[in-house]
Order: sequence, then C-alpha cells, then structure tokens
Amino acid sequence: MTKDFLPFTRPSIDEATIAGVAEVLRSGWITSGPQVKAFEAALSKLCGGRPVLAFNSGTVTLEVALRLAEIGPGDEVITTPLSWVATANVVLEVGARPVFVDVDPRTRNIDLDEIEKAVTPRTRALIPVDLAGLPVDRDRLYMLAGKHKLRVIEDAAQSLGATWRKRRIGSFGDLVSFSFHANKNVTTSEGGALVLPDEGLVELTEKLRFQGVTRTGEDGMDCDVLGGKANLTDIAARIGLGQLERLDEFTRRRRALARRYFERWDASLGCELPPADFENSNWHMFQVVLPARVERGSFIARMRDAGVGVGVHYPAMHLFALYRALGWRAGQFPQAERIGRAIVTLPLFPAMQDEDVERVCDAARKALA
Ligand SMILES: Cc1ncc(COP(=O)(O)O)c(C=O)c1O
Repeated sequence: MTKDFLPFTRPSIDEATIAGVAEVLRSGWITSGPQVKAFEAALSKLCGGRPVLAFNSGTVTLEVALRLAEIGPGDEVITTPLSWVATANVVLEVGARPVFVDVDPRTRNIDLDEIEKAVTPRTRALIPVDLAGLPVDRDRLYMLAGKHKLRVIEDAAQSLGATWRKRRIGSFGDLVSFSFHANKNVTTSEGGALVLPDEGLVELTEKLRFQGVTRTGEDGMDCDVLGGKANLTDIAARIGLGQLERLDEFTRRRRALARRYFERWDASLGCELPPADFENSNWHMFQVVLPARVERGSFIARMRDAGVGVGVHYPAMHLFALYRALGWRAGQFPQAERIGRAIVTLPLFPAMQDEDVERVCDAARKALA
C-alpha cells in the first residue's frame, strides 16, 4: 500500500484475472457456464474431491444447506451470537429457531463447553462459525454432533484456506459453506460455495439453486421442487478462478503480517489479542478487543484521522431488534456481548506492506494513549 488511507481490507485482483474477466465479457456467455464449472472443479480439488456447487452468495449457501438437512418449522439450530447476522437470519428464513450459545473469550468462537446445555429434543443442527478464519475445534464439534445426532452446517464463510490438523476446511465434515464476498480471502465480488457430504445431493442442490427446474432432451422442462435463483455468473467465477490460484500465497502473506502484528503490538495497551495460531487460521481478520476504558467510536475516529481504517465484526447479534423481538436479551451471553462491544478489525490483506503494520501499531498506540 501507499502512504494514503489504509483500509482494513482490500481485494488483490491481478491483471491476468482482469484480462480473463474481459475475455468472458467478450465471449457472448456471461451468466453461469464454463467458468462456473471450472471454478467448481477447482474448489472441489481443494476440498479433497468432494462435490462443490457455486452460488451467488454465502448466505444462500447456508440457507440451501439448511434445506438439504430438512430443517424447518419446529426445529432448533444452535449457533454463535458473534458472527455476521446472516448466520442466524438463514435459520429464520427456513422457519426454524436459532438458539445462541456464548463464545469462548480466547477464540471468540462458539464455546463448545456450552453447547450441550442448549440441546433440546428439537435441536437438529449446529452452525459453527470460524470467526476471523480461526477454525472451531472440529474434533470436539463432530463428537458433540455425533453424540446428539445433529447435522453440522459449517459456516466457513471466513475460513477458506484455513486447516484443522493439516486438513483443509471444506475437505471433510458435513455441509460446508464458503463466502466469496469482496472482503473474503478469495473473492468473486459476491458469491459462495457449498461443499456437499454426498454426491447423491448434487441434483437436489442444483434444483434449489435454480428454480427447481430440470431439462430433458431438446425441449423438455419440469419443475418439481421450489428452488430459488442463486446461480453464480461466469464473470464472477472467472474472478474466483484467478483468486484461487493465489489462495496459498494469500494465506502465507496474511500469516506473515499477523506475525508482525504480534511482534510490533504494544502489549501495555491492555488490548486482548487473538490466539497466535499460525498453523490453522487463514488470518481472514486481525482483531483486537479494546480495554473497557476505551470508547470504541472515538478509537475508530482517531484511527481514521491517522489514515487507518478500522472495522467492527461484529456486535452480538442476539441484541439486534429482530432477535430481541424473539425474546433474546442483554446479559444472556456476557462474553459475546463484551467482545461485540469492544472488538475492532485492524488492516490485514495480502497487498499490505510490512511497514503498514508498524503504521497501524503506532496509530493505535497514539489513539489509546
Ligand atoms: C460468518 C459469515 N457468515 C455468512 C456470511 C454471508 O456471506 P455473503 O455475504 O457472501 O452472503 C458472511 C460474509 O459476509 C460471514 O462472514
């Protein structure tokens, strides 16, 4: 980056990808076609050969996953309150009830010790979220799911490129959902992908993605399930193909920048740092929790004045009006509420220079003085 304003994130789209997108635009075929097929094949390769279908968002992939798991009215789905609100909105969308469980203050992910207390006879699934790209402990997660016969819909929107015990997120497990929103480690501008546990689900997933329609022969058409309109375009898929080639390079760079934060951050400021994990996390975000004495809004404003962008990911979602109206209230999840009030996302993206980390650390030192 330059001495100009440093945003908290910025996609790295290379010239070859831009040229590839131009080619798609000139090709005469711009909606779902060969680029989507190629993108799905590349994702599947990354996910150990499992079936992967591309969609136009990482929200609709979660919703389709819930429909594939046949979750609907009367069912409960356990998830974390500290995520993008899409994680729980999709549960409401299919007519089921999201049930929140507090987070572990160290990882900021769902507290696995709290899940069993929330299980009822109506619980059907778990939606763990790998916040900032730090994977939820998959061993314990699947042990709990197995014990209570629950489906798992991994909200891996932020964890493409992350691993668990040297296995890539997406290459194992039940249903796994990725997002390719502009801020994600791999982007298609907007988009998502769903990894399926079984080839037998491909046909139904395709129908749920595209109006429930099947075509036969030269002119046959039928519609036997209610599907949506959630296909990815070839323009978007071509961006994704250019990005996927660089996934490992991006992850290495993000890890190196995160390491530098740990080296340069002034520990005396009293902020809570994320776990120093350079093996599993893809470092989608570098987030610190500000000390209680600091007013977050003025910290963000001071950083902006110093030329540094700061994000907020996320306020605890059970306190949003929609969820309060469903009966959730303050005090139920003290860790998520405390973290949600004080967490900030500092700049971290592959094109950042080493010196940019110093710039952020210096600005933070002054803003917190
Ligand atoms: C944790 C989480 N879940 C779900 C989503 C939804 O993805 P999308 O924005 O692609 O719909 C996102 C990203 O925005 C996310 O970060």
